[in-house]
Amino acid sequence: MQAVVKLLRAEVAHYNWVGIYLVQDGKLVLGPWDGPEATEHVSIDIGQGICGLAAREKRTVVVDDVHAKDEYLACFPATKSEIVVPMLRGEECVGEIDIDSDTPSAFSKADSEFLEEAARMLVDEYFAR
Ligand code: SME
Repeated sequence: MQAVVKLLRAEVAHYNWVGIYLVQDGKLVLGPWDGPEATEHVSIDIGQGICGLAAREKRTVVVDDVHAKDEYLACFPATKSEIVVPMLRGEECVGEIDIDSDTPSAFSKADSEFLEEAARMLVDEYFAR
């Protein structure tokens, strides 16, 4: 998973910080990440922040302008937009891919589709029953 976050950030210019949160004991716990700096949000309640929203609703959440979103938990001053893609094993959310961009409205439908496929591959690889 560390290799995956590193590759995503290296290959896509508008992916400035890439992390995987894993569900542990009902919380989102930060796993592998790649970016210029660490986030203080290493444990997030499901339902809290954009990360918690995506986990609770089990759907991809794209935020074009993080500062206009009440739920947003700020991590980095440079961040303008964010995408959070749940990793679903059947009906269960086992984790998520969280990407912050320094570009406003950075994430398109192509990013959602690509990252949803990446999330499926991660679940198949690491969370197969
Ligand atoms: N912004 C996220 C918190 C995690 S950081 O982006 C790494 C949120 O609102 O849940």
